[in-house]
Amino acid sequence: MLFDSHAHVDDRRFSGEVEEVLKRALEQDVTNILNVGADMESSARAVMLSEEYNMVYASVGIHPHDAKDAKNADYYTLAEWTNQNKVVAIGEIGLDYYHNHSPKEIQQEVFIRQLDVARQTKMPFIIHDRDAHKDILDIIKKEAKGMPGVFHCFSGSVEMAREVIKMGYYISIAGPVTFSNANKLKEVAKSIPLERLLIETDCPYLTPHPHRGTRNEPAYVRLVAEEIAGLKEIKLEKLASVTTSNTKELFGIV
Ligand code: NI
Repeated sequence: MLFDSHAHVDDRRFSGEVEEVLKRALEQDVTNILNVGADMESSARAVMLSEEYNMVYASVGIHPHDAKDAKNADYYTLAEWTNQNKVVAIGEIGLDYYHNHSPKEIQQEVFIRQLDVARQTKMPFIIHDRDAHKDILDIIKKEAKGMPGVFHCFSGSVEMAREVIKMGYYISIAGPVTFSNANKLKEVAKSIPLERLLIETDCPYLTPHPHRGTRNEPAYVRLVAEEIAGLKEIKLEKLASVTTSNTKELFGIV
């Protein structure tokens, strides 16, 4: 059993195909998917997908790209959504200083306000961090003490991974770990204790080898799992069962 802990099946690249995509996932033993929202519209679609499909759970949040469009009422709506049974997290939230689609100060403000929603609703959070390692760590140390969360599509160093784990967070690894030149990420994956590891596709993005250049989908989380099991020299079944139970534990899924 595999759990794709971060997917965007609501993306328009899947429109009209969701049923088949989920079926192909099941054929690869991917029995659960967390569909992650990135703005208010996609969060609403994530909630709908979780209501429609048994195997799908939802996370709601505003990505740093879209921070500039966040309105006061949105934080209330996010909190409201968490009252639904299959909404299990706030995310993806964080900082992206690589693209800077929203000004840094706005990204920080929207990130902090959503951490506040997570605290009030007792939800774990999903972090998006691109070229913003220091500010992310500073903010969560200050604003999210003791709250559970995961760093999704981790791109930091072995040292940062160690620090994040020491702070009590999970780390999720995506498709780039399968790339032949991803030496740093392979080292990071090897270094993460199994009980702190999650796996994901982040589909439709970050398609793993050997499907690079095509649309990613949840079925391919198996390729991520196989790669990491190989790096850690453990059986795929072991990696699958531990990462699945980690995901369920973090997101309170029984
Ligand atoms: Ni994502």
